[in-house]
Amino acid sequence: MADVLTVRNLKAYYVTGAFGVTREVRAVDDVTMQIRENEVYGIAGESSSGKTSLIKTLAVAIRPPLRIMGGEIEYRFGDKVLNPYTAPRREVEAIRWKNLSYIMQGSMSVLNPVRKIGKVFRDFAYRPMGVSASEFDARVAAHLRRLGLEPRVLNAYPHELSGGMRQRVTIALATVCRPQFIIADEPTTALDVVVQKDVLAMIRDVQREMGASVVFVTHDMSVHANMADRIGIVYAGRLVEEGPTRTLFTAPKHPYTAHLVASLPRIGDRTERPSLEGRPPSLADPPSGCRFHPRCPLAIDKCKTDVPPLADIGHSHRSACWRAADVVPLTGAGHLAGAGA
Ligand SMILES: Nc1ncnc2c1ncn2[C@@H]1O[C@H](COP(=O)(O)OP(=O)(O)OP(=O)(O)O)[C@@H](O)[C@H]1O
Ligand SMILES: [Mg+2]
Repeated sequence: MADVLTVRNLKAYYVTGAFGVTREVRAVDDVTMQIRENEVYGIAGESSSGKTSLIKTLAVAIRPPLRIMGGEIEYRFGDKVLNPYTAPRREVEAIRWKNLSYIMQGSMSVLNPVRKIGKVFRDFAYRPMGVSASEFDARVAAHLRRLGLEPRVLNAYPHELSGGMRQRVTIALATVCRPQFIIADEPTTALDVVVQKDVLAMIRDVQREMGASVVFVTHDMSVHANMADRIGIVYAGRLVEEGPTRTLFTAPKHPYTAHLVASLPRIGDRTERPSLEGRPPSLADPPSGCRFHPRCPLAIDKCKTDVPPLADIGHSHRSACWRAADVVPLTGAGHLAGAGA
């Protein structure tokens, strides 16, 4: 399948200065990845690992102090190829909403509290859609219905809707122009489990129907198990493992991934699992070599000095670990036989 997004050696740091001292938080540090047409790619990793920073960079939604420090991003929409950080602003604005949409973490922020939902749709989607006003209204109403929303939500203010409803409206807004690429940051984290299922099913349905690519972030591994075709694991600003969902759950080849997938709660399973010692490192002063080495049960001397490259280990599986061959799942992962299905 063709790649829609190619990312090469991407670096994005928060650069701040005070009293003549520059401080760099290396939130995205040398990330290389490809996103294919028509796939759901999940990004996982613990809090502060850089997931939002990475996804903002991909969404061309960065603001100072976050800055691109190196590398490239290339989107391919039909025969249009574009590096959003070197292309003229006009070309970048032309792909927003139409080809590329972004659902922010705590996404209600796109919904202006003093503007009715219908006005917000008009603000964002009318121009990109490029149709007459009556055609626009008809398309918005049809899209809302398809997603199980009553078009009368257009007359509501955001506070008149429940959290789950607002999140559904946000997803409707992000997809109404039928973009090929949808980026979503923790789209369901604030929602209760039942609503969460609903919203995830909605994202999945829209993705399938439109054949779009979805990149989404959540720290909830059970959501990844149900949603993602492939998963990328982020640790301290780096992509440390990537592969098909099922592979990552059943045969992780990075010790950090092994811990993440073993931490999934499981009905009836009371076995003690080894917990991960220590805390995630500061991205202003990350450990040398492999950033995971201070917490890693498999670390050897080489891990303290040499950065492991994200190496291809076959079957679309990549791991950045000197000891990848020795990583074994922490528990029998047979319970996840359906993962990635
Ligand atoms: N405006 C900022 N200035 C300086 N550092 C920042 C800024 N915003 C975020 N950071 C730092 O960048 C790092 C990555 O943060 P980021 O929000 O990308 O993590 P995350 O993986 O999305 O976390 P979470 O799961 O909590 O959403 C963190 O160390 C964070 O403290
Ligand atoms: Mg985040």
